[in-house]
Amino acid sequence: MARVLVTRRLTPGGTDPLLEAGHEIVAPFGDDDTPLVAGELAAQAAECDGMVCLLTDRIDAAVLESGVAGRLRVVANAAVGFDNIDVATARTLGVSVCNTPGVLDDTTADLAFLLILAARRDATTAEADLRHGRWTGWGFTTNLAHDVHGATLGLVGYGRIAQAVARRAAGFDMEVLHTSRTNTGLPGYVSELRELLRRSDIVSLHVPLTEATRHLIGREELALMKPTAVLVNTARGPVVDEEALADALEAGTLGGAGLDVFDGEPSVNPRLVKAPRATLLPHVGSATVGTRTRMAQLACQGVVDVLAGRTPPNLV
Ligand code: GLV
Repeated sequence: MARVLVTRRLTPGGTDPLLEAGHEIVAPFGDDDTPLVAGELAAQAAECDGMVCLLTDRIDAAVLESGVAGRLRVVANAAVGFDNIDVATARTLGVSVCNTPGVLDDTTADLAFLLILAARRDATTAEADLRHGRWTGWGFTTNLAHDVHGATLGLVGYGRIAQAVARRAAGFDMEVLHTSRTNTGLPGYVSELRELLRRSDIVSLHVPLTEATRHLIGREELALMKPTAVLVNTARGPVVDEEALADALEAGTLGGAGLDVFDGEPSVNPRLVKAPRATLLPHVGSATVGTRTRMAQLACQGVVDVLAGRTPPNLV
């Protein structure tokens, strides 16, 4: 029996693989489920053989090196992105890192499509007009926006989630373009991000956050987009330069934005909160009961596998 730290509350049934394997679960979070602060996280990790964490936990060298050398064997992020984990240090220390690929693609693609629809039809502005008593009657020329069907969708990155978005776009008769680090050889592949930005009516981001993708969409890139185009981000906040995005929305040089992720979450750039034609959601891309449970179980199973000396399929 090993000790496994579960840093935050998971959905019911999420920890079943740990329980079935007979491991002891250490769950130090309180009723309010507040993330552990850095020192607490390191102190808890020091006493454990494995850890299931969330993207709100910063798993840095201090956490990874906190215990007796070699005790902590695996860190499993209940998320597909793992930019919160110092993977290089984990590798050096021989700590395995797992994530949750595959189980959240369709749920996240649904959410991306929600933002595509909301941004392109400017639903948030229209709803705010209604809620705040600005709807004075049906107007032929009020709340005019742009069509989703028939529009050109540019996917930046072409992993599983982007491909799930592309499948949905087919039902909307959209032209779908994509960029990728390597030539996919698939229809719609565009080698240059700049060309994709110029041609798309909707640009949806599906790249992991790395040093190469930080501020991938900045002032110059936004300037290449059509003034009616919208930007959708369900990937990671820092992929977009939020100040440049706020400028473009305020100046009307960009048609709109649909954002589920932010730089410095849970704080949100106040300029984006006030920006026109923007739909903002609190990082809920994978937030359905079924998907969150599958994510939790996959992360926990990864811990069980590593502790049993097996190589889990979701090893980073
Ligand atoms: C959510 O953002 C995830 O990476 O799973």
